[in-house]
Amino acid sequence: MGDTTRRRTVLAAGAAALAGTALTACGSEDKAGTQAEGGSTPQAAAPAEQALAKTADIPVGGGKVFKDEKVVVTQPKAGEFKAYSAVCTHQGCAVTGVKDGKIVCPCHQSFFKVEDGSVASGPATRPLPAAKITVTGDQIALG
Ligand code: FES
Repeated sequence: MGDTTRRRTVLAAGAAALAGTALTACGSEDKAGTQAEGGSTPQAAAPAEQALAKTADIPVGGGKVFKDEKVVVTQPKAGEFKAYSAVCTHQGCAVTGVKDGKIVCPCHQSFFKVEDGSVASGPATRPLPAAKITVTGDQIALG
């Protein structure tokens, strides 16, 4: 009997861990060969954060999806940046873009608000989890 309880606890912990890192759930991702931008990266020691974009890349009132990093960065107001998981909370598809202030999941047409990742319209019922970014000057980095 004790075993059952312990097992349930372990499974619940595993589910929580999956929920936090469910970034590989989508199986319908295109494998289009996208080239990394830049090419002039100096060989400095890599900082803890991973460079993602420049602030000018993120439209005010909109956002941009970073497919490889599975993150969407938004700028609800000028100078205010937010980031969320790009994995839809409905069934795990990748969101593909931001339109009219909403992050769009094309699989079943869920829309999430750029301000806080909350559901603007379903079928998704849960918000996109926040992702951590750091803005330094005009650079946006993951982490
Ligand atoms: S997986 Fe995104 S709306 Fe269904």
